[in-house]
Amino acid sequence: MQPSLTRIRDRFDIVEVPLIDGKPTLGAEVAAGLRGSPKSLPSKLLYDDVGSALFDAITRLPEYYLTRAESEILRESGWEIVRALDGPVALLELGSGSAVKTRILIEEALRAQRQVRYSPIDISADALRASSHALVESYHDLAITAYAGDYFDVLGSGMLQRDGRTLAMLMGSNIGNYEPGAAARLMRLLAGALRPGDGLLLGSDLKKDAATLERAYDDAIGLTAAFERNAIARLNREFGGGTDPRAFAHLARYDAQRGSVDSFLVAQHDLRLELAEIGVYADVACGERIHVESSYKFSDAQIAQLGSAAGLERVRTWHDRLAQFSVDLFVRR
Ligand code: AVI
Repeated sequence: MQPSLTRIRDRFDIVEVPLIDGKPTLGAEVAAGLRGSPKSLPSKLLYDDVGSALFDAITRLPEYYLTRAESEILRESGWEIVRALDGPVALLELGSGSAVKTRILIEEALRAQRQVRYSPIDISADALRASSHALVESYHDLAITAYAGDYFDVLGSGMLQRDGRTLAMLMGSNIGNYEPGAAARLMRLLAGALRPGDGLLLGSDLKKDAATLERAYDDAIGLTAAFERNAIARLNREFGGGTDPRAFAHLARYDAQRGSVDSFLVAQHDLRLELAEIGVYADVACGERIHVESSYKFSDAQIAQLGSAAGLERVRTWHDRLAQFSVDLFVRR
């Protein structure tokens, strides 16, 4: 029997968490990055609606092995993951929950227990509404409380409602997009939102040879290049710019010392990035690089350390068959 519309509405709720006062706006971050030396742009610029759709397409590319490897782990071991804690579990995810892997874990949890509460956290209320409606329509025994806001603000707000055992999820190697200090801060905030016996499932990309890594971030059909150039298109749309995104080439380089694949936009000729609405007039020389994103890669020891520095104990590790990716379960003691 299909659930009625009322029942679907009854099973979805959204809490909007306000931005913390005094935090720099996106415009202020852009201005600071373009005035810096070397120049940079905040990586969050990449994730507007266009960028999120492009990233979704990237996850299906042959070169971008991360999503396939993580999904393989969840398909193989999801049953074990959802039963590893003293359940039943409520799922809390940093991310909108639109991904296939979220469905794998929800389905496994629904096999292990009668009902599941799922709480996604995402900056976009629209993305949360769309993905949550699709999920409650698919699963009759799923209830969703979504939180719209910045991860740091939501976790620090004290507004998270929890009942029973929580399994928090930070998947897709999203942790790798934070600089080490911010990654440690996010892990501490997550650990602080958990109670003794709760778990954190962390998906992280493992260190490997530079060629495989650089291919994953510079694919043959140029989707990743389009994803990075969308940062310029977004500057034009939101801050009154008029720079042709094609004036920039995309470059991905693995810095083995820092353990990060760094993505840059490289100016193809001298140009001036004018963003009248935020008073930015940045001269960019031909060949100059603007850093847009870091994607950190981890060793097994670094993953354990990420948890232990936040007061979490690692209890299980799963790898895909090619050992490219790691999914680790941490428990708050
Ligand atoms: C979202 N994040 C984990 C991706 C990554 O692998 O760093 C973003 C990405 N950037 C280019 N390709 C994918």
